[in-house]
Amino acid sequence: MSCRVVVLLSGRGSNFQAIAEARLPIEIVAVISNRPHAAGLDYARTHGLAAIALDHTAHPDRAAFDALLAEEIERHRPDLVVLAGYMRILSPAFIARFEGRLLNIHPSLLPMFQGLKTHERALAEGVKIHGCTVHFVTADLDHGPIVIQAAVPVRADDTPDTLAARVLRQEHRIYPQAVRWFAEGRLEINRGRVNLKDDPTSQSVFPAGM
Ligand code: GRF
Repeated sequence: MSCRVVVLLSGRGSNFQAIAEARLPIEIVAVISNRPHAAGLDYARTHGLAAIALDHTAHPDRAAFDALLAEEIERHRPDLVVLAGYMRILSPAFIARFEGRLLNIHPSLLPMFQGLKTHERALAEGVKIHGCTVHFVTADLDHGPIVIQAAVPVRADDTPDTLAARVLRQEHRIYPQAVRWFAEGRLEINRGRVNLKDDPTSQSVFPAGM
């Protein structure tokens, strides 16, 4: 039986697309956006996937909106919920409900650069290595157990956009990989760390030349 996946997004949806096109042992049973005009919803529709808009601006109360969102997700009986550019902080009750089956991708090498504008901040700090992280979501914002990370070099002439593009190419590699491992039942969380069953070496990705 394949792993039932619900995707949450807010915008472009390129990570969702990478997961959808990666031939994984999963079934994407719904794609939900808090922004009705998210490009990711268009991609879902044109590929015959259930595309659902739940406009958060119609629900000023975060807890109430998250309760509605959780109900909508549960209707699809997911084994895994994938945050793919979902740009809203989730309430603690929501996270508790899905903990252990909720993955996120963050555009930095966590725990560095939690929060927003990660590429600008990496350039401002002058770091020479940057990257991205797939992690389980816990109540601690951008701080859950790490599944996989990819590193990229930072170049002297980088702008936030050129750096973001380099990182994004790696996001599209590691997120499908993390989802595959989850679907295969290979991820074990032990005291805040994620161990990959049978293969402890492939949770760090260094592109050619690094
Ligand atoms: C990505 O950079 C991801 O790391 C961050 O939001 C962005 C979403 O991009 N969480 P996309 O919508 O997947 O193209």
